[in-house]
Amino acid sequence: MPRNLEGRIALVTGASRGIGRAVALALGAQGAKVVVNYVSNEAAAAEVVAAVVAAGGKAVAKRFDIADGAAVDAAVKEVAAAEGGLHILVNNAGIAVNALTLGAKDADWRRAIDVNLTGTFNCTRAALRSLMKAKEAGRIINLTSITAEAGSAGQGPYVAAKAGVIGLTKTWAREYASRGITVNAVSPGYIDTDMTAAELPEERRGDLIKSIPLGRVGRPEDVAAAVAYLAGPAAAYVTGQVLRVNGGLLM
Ligand SMILES: NC(=O)c1ccc[n+]([C@@H]2O[C@H](COP(=O)([O-])OP(=O)(O)OC[C@H]3O[C@@H](n4cnc5c(N)ncnc54)[C@H](OP(=O)(O)O)[C@@H]3O)[C@@H](O)[C@H]2O)c1
Repeated sequence: MPRNLEGRIALVTGASRGIGRAVALALGAQGAKVVVNYVSNEAAAAEVVAAVVAAGGKAVAKRFDIADGAAVDAAVKEVAAAEGGLHILVNNAGIAVNALTLGAKDADWRRAIDVNLTGTFNCTRAALRSLMKAKEAGRIINLTSITAEAGSAGQGPYVAAKAGVIGLTKTWAREYASRGITVNAVSPGYIDTDMTAAELPEERRGDLIKSIPLGRVGRPEDVAAAVAYLAGPAAAYVTGQVLRVNGGLLM
């Protein structure tokens, strides 16, 4: 594994499980010091820190709720002060909210938007000053979803939030290009994590796999490889893009 990110500080939100965990391991293996954010699962975050360290990397855990703007501001400030800066922000934390529109409650809408969209906004706004100081190394990578482009019955609030993340990605790419920050999104298809385990019953899995040209469900590591590419020097001339990692499910 090339150590392309030596000396970089990377904040990965929602890194205690699933895709965020794989991103933390991938960035750590490339030499970045990883700040492993979580909201409730302290033991899982500690396990990720230990796994990064066991692989020869550096990591610390940091609890905050991305939906809480004041908490995000304080936490990002603390991280930048403690680590001496911030170079890479991966806005990965997210929640699935399942509700058909007719039956959706105000709380379903609000929670999906608060975490998935406002959370991404909060973290980026808080990190921007530090990322500007990173000069040409500043990177923002946002996790959107295949559903933002394809729609998803029963997930309207989540889809709206993830479509908003694509708009923010392109907006931030334009706003901060002159400050040397690249901003891209990674759009996973169907990836095996706790989020999807809760949604897809085993009996529908076979049908899903048949619809994926590459013939399998994605792994967190498939997505982490795309994030690591966008975080590194090889992607210096890539900004405002949405990189789909979906086995060909949407082309
Ligand atoms: N899995 C897929 O197929 C798929 C497809 C498309 C897009 N995505 C997107 O990829 C990202 C990661 O998904 P995943 O499947 O890895 O999810 P996951 O396995 O459910 O993990 C979610 C992570 O987000 C954290 N989190 C949740 N709410 C938070 C909050 N308010 N503040 C801080 N952290 C919070 C969780 O922390 P705790 O452990 O503390 O709860 C956990 O680390 C999400 O943005 C998701 O929408 C996933």
